[in-house]
Amino acid sequence: MIAIGSDHAAFQFKEDIKAYLDAKGIKYQDFGCFSKDRTDYPIYGEKVANAVASGECERGLLFCGTGVGISLAANKVPGIRAVVCTDCYSAALSRRHNDANILALGARVVGIDLAKMIIDTWLNAEFEGGRHADRVAMISAIEAKHCGNS
Ligand code: RB5
Repeated sequence: MIAIGSDHAAFQFKEDIKAYLDAKGIKYQDFGCFSKDRTDYPIYGEKVANAVASGECERGLLFCGTGVGISLAANKVPGIRAVVCTDCYSAALSRRHNDANILALGARVVGIDLAKMIIDTWLNAEFEGGRHADRVAMISAIEAKHCGNS
């Protein structure tokens, strides 16, 4: 199950991506927003991040105007590694090397067809582990230290 969310700036973008995921038979849960009415991206960044961090959803997709604000909010939830991507190479490597668990895209930055390609790439790429796992563990250690969990 993929958690999905956006602010108002990316509402239609999210609807288009949902239709794409439907056509591919990919299951998702939409955490809002649910209209084009102005809202605040941290709300949805946190909701999707909570769903992923708790294990309720395996991974997340977040959209706002740039992908930046909503990924910053998601990254405040312990255990989240949210990345903004504008190209397929970064999307693939964010999974293979960084074990990114949320992909953020900017609806005002990437066209919808490129977004679909980036999402396909990201969803199909797997974490390689090995030396990369050591580095991801180092990121988690930084997080634990600053959250007072170590
Ligand atoms: C909303 O206007 C815009 O600031 C938001 O969608 C996002 O781009 C923030 O990072």
